[in-house]
Amino acid sequence: MTTTLYQRLGAADGIARLVDDVMAAHLVNPIVKTRFEKIKDIEFAKKMAREFFCAGSGGPEPYTGKDMLTAHKGMNISEQEYLAVTDDIVNAMSKNKLDEGTKNDVIAILYSLKGNIIRV
Ligand code: HEM
Repeated sequence: MTTTLYQRLGAADGIARLVDDVMAAHLVNPIVKTRFEKIKDIEFAKKMAREFFCAGSGGPEPYTGKDMLTAHKGMNISEQEYLAVTDDIVNAMSKNKLDEGTKNDVIAILYSLKGNIIRV
């Protein structure tokens, strides 16, 4: 039996904990906090992030949000900001005691998305 990334992330509950920790980290990270303070409906943003990670890791929940290019178009996100967001996610995964293989799988997915997010 293979284990899906979704299962290794702790399924919907584990992903919800991760998203809470990641958003809290973004809001105190000096490199990106102003980006996230401006979000009008933070609960909706977290719902979209939960759906994105659930669907993207092999979970049954559908993703109902925008594709990554559409979501980030016109924001002029820098490489430094992208790395800061990635660091927040990696630190949240460490805090939630995910194993190195699982963390590396998520990092590979995040890296693959950069062309749709940085300076688009
Ligand atoms: C690391 C990869 C990233 C992923 C997987 C990701 C994922 C997402 C998702 C799923 C959404 C919701 C789209 C929707 O509302 O339909 C979103 C929106 C957004 N993202 Fe990202 N993102 C990433 C990087 C970044 C970076 C680097 C920044 C800025 C520093 C950023 C800032 C935002 C903002 C401001 C929104 C709009 C939120 C709103 O107004 O509702 N994202 N992102």
